[in-house]
Amino acid sequence: MIRVATEADWATVPEIHRTAFGNHGDDVAVLVGELHASEWYEPELSFVAEDEGRSVGHVMNTWCWLEGGSPRVLQLSPLGVLPAFQRRGHGAALVRASLDAVSALGEALLLVEGDPRYYSRFGFAPAAELGLLAPPEILYDWAFQVNVLDPNADLPKGRVVYSPPFVANARSARARARARGG
Ligand SMILES: CC(C)(COP(=O)(O)OP(=O)(O)OC[C@H]1O[C@@H](n2cnc3c(N)ncnc32)[C@H](O)[C@@H]1OP(=O)(O)O)[C@@H](O)C(=O)NCCC(=O)NCCS
Repeated sequence: MIRVATEADWATVPEIHRTAFGNHGDDVAVLVGELHASEWYEPELSFVAEDEGRSVGHVMNTWCWLEGGSPRVLQLSPLGVLPAFQRRGHGAALVRASLDAVSALGEALLLVEGDPRYYSRFGFAPAAELGLLAPPEILYDWAFQVNVLDPNADLPKGRVVYSPPFVANARSARARARARGG
């Protein structure tokens, strides 16, 4: 079951991501807390997956923007499901709830930074091909994707600018990759 997250869920949401993201779970738990407290948070675009009466997955969609200040665009991230509850369709249901809700808001697109082998099944495609360039902080440009929700819209183009919590998280991911020699 998928539902909009309530304020009460925030006691458990960071822990879902801490567990789901393994080695860098601490960073993602910090990220979701900062996003939740920020002006880029949209309460109606934060979803919880429930299974066996407990919260087992979460996704949020928050605002970033294009270089120059406008327009605002939404990004799906992070998405996490507790390992013991993965491969039951919760991740897919959270992505689909996000796409439906963002589309219902009248937004023409939804961004994501993630593995194309997972996100392509939902219609996400390389963002650069549509003129939406990845923020400079991100580790792999190929991971930056877009889902076009309104095929008739005149899509914005340019370099995407992450909100400060994502910038900090991306820099920390880069530092980890450097420490690994990557
Ligand atoms: C990615 C994630 C959210 C998927 O959740 P889920 O509830 O297992 O997803 P679903 O049940 O809808 O889909 C599972 C399928 O996706 C596949 N999958 C999961 N991660 C994948 C990846 N990175 N690349 C390709 N396929 C992937 C699984 O192998 C599975 O395939 P199958 O159906 O053929 O067995 C979950 O694995 C997770 O929390 N991972 C750790 C955090 C993370 O990487 N989040 C995404 C980046 S923001």
